[in-house]
This record gives sequence, structure tokens and C-alpha cells, in this order.
Amino acid sequence: MLEKIKNTAAFIRNKVQAEPELGIILGTGLGGLVSEIDISHILPYEEIPDFPLSTVEGHSGKLIFGNLSGKRVIAMQGRFHFYEGYSMQELTFPVRVMKFLGIKRLIVSNASGGVNPDFEIGDIMLINDHINMMPDNPLMGKNIMELGPRFPDMSETYDKGMLSLARTIGNELGIKLVEGVYAATSGPCFETPAEYTRFRNSGADTVGMSTVPEVIVARHMGIPVFAVSIITDLGVPGKIVEVSHEEVVKVASAAEKKMTQVIKILVERL
Ligand code: HPA
Repeated sequence: MLEKIKNTAAFIRNKVQAEPELGIILGTGLGGLVSEIDISHILPYEEIPDFPLSTVEGHSGKLIFGNLSGKRVIAMQGRFHFYEGYSMQELTFPVRVMKFLGIKRLIVSNASGGVNPDFEIGDIMLINDHINMMPDNPLMGKNIMELGPRFPDMSETYDKGMLSLARTIGNELGIKLVEGVYAATSGPCFETPAEYTRFRNSGADTVGMSTVPEVIVARHMGIPVFAVSIITDLGVPGKIVEVSHEEVVKVASAAEKKMTQVIKILVERL
């Protein structure tokens, strides 16, 4: 795997001559950040050796290189999910590659279903911890010491400095930011009411189908992580209604402007 990661990173470096310092995974709700990037290069995933390909037809992902708020960034437009059938190692491969391209920090976004009864639809949640409830872990198998330790510490998975910066920025801009624990499930079904309750009882504030594999891999390699989630629906007894992907995307798009503002300023102050 190490050889593959290094080869892919070398290919990209050759192609774009970029030295990104910050990686961004543009999940649901952060797509609009692209228009804030002063783009120098775009690399479609299908042109990158050993990169996973999107399972959604006609919807290929891209690596975007450029400048955001004065920082050299690499942004993944289009991420990979466990429910699409990728192995954990495949879907986190781009994060490994970003490390070898030089990133010093990672920012991730997603959409999720709130199980904390104090949350409202459209809230932006700073992820301050997670629970991996996916039936796998990207670090399974022989450990590669050059990437990170066999038993990585997870006591501060989400960087306290970036969390604190984000809180300050939220206050300054008058943007409401809630905070909590993100539980990751494989999906692709949304939860039954009983399952939402189980997640709540397990200590989660919200549940979603992404992010945790990428974060585990980033932490394995010592990369500080900042992650945010848009609460697109509520798995709270009495408030549960039918959820659809379309509704998730609609709510996330509505929160996108606020989310983009926070991230833009956060990046500026890093
Ligand atoms: N459950 C899991 N994933 C999600 C949800 C949800 O309710 N909403 C958006 N992503």
C-alpha cells in the first residue's frame, strides 16, 4: 500500500507542482467553498492512478488545488462512502495521498441526523468527538509503521485549537454553532426510530455515514483534524419524519453559506 500511496502522490506532484498545506474534504454542505478557492489546478479522480472512482454515474470527483484565504489547499470535491462498497482502505486512500503531498491539517464536512433533542434542523455542529459504529476500521491489517503507530491514540481526535477558533468565529459572526459527538454508521438506510434512540443512548449527538474512516486515517498519520456537520434531520422521538437524500441535500445547501463563511475565516487564522 505504501508504494501505491507514494506513486500516486508523486504522479500528482509531477502533474500540478503544488505543495498544499491544508486538506479539505468537501462533504455535503461545503461544496460552495470551491467558489472561494483561487484555483490553480483541477485533477479529475479518473486521471489519478489508483484513486477510487465514484459509483455515481456521470458524477466524477475532482481534486482541486489552489489558494484559500492565503493558504495553499487541496480540496476533494466528491468523497467516498463505505456503503458504496469500497473497502475502508480504498475510501481513505486519498487522505493517505494528501499526507504525502504535504498537508499539515485536515478539514472535513458532512450532513447528519441529529439525535440530541436540543438540536434543530439546519444547525451546524462542530464535531468534538466521534464513535465508530461502522463494522470495520481502516487500520485493520498489517500496520505500516511509516504511516503511523499500530495503536494510535484517540484522546484528542478533533483538534482543540481549531475547535476553539471556530467557536470564536461563530460568536463574532453571530452564527449559531452547536457541538457534539458524531456517530458513524455504515448506512445506506437512514435509521429506524429505535436505532436513533440507540445512538442517542450510546452517547451520540448526531449520526451520519461518513467522515470517521477519513479522520481515523488522518489521526493515524498525526494530522490535526477539524470537522463540522450540518444537522439535516432529527432522529428525536416525536420529531421523526420521513427522511430522503433530497431533503438532506436541500437543508445542507441552505446552511452552506454560513458554513462556508466560518471555514473561510478559520482557514485565514490558521
Ligand atoms: N442518518 C444517517 N445519516 C444521515 C442522516 C441520518 O439521519 N441525515 C444525513 N445523513
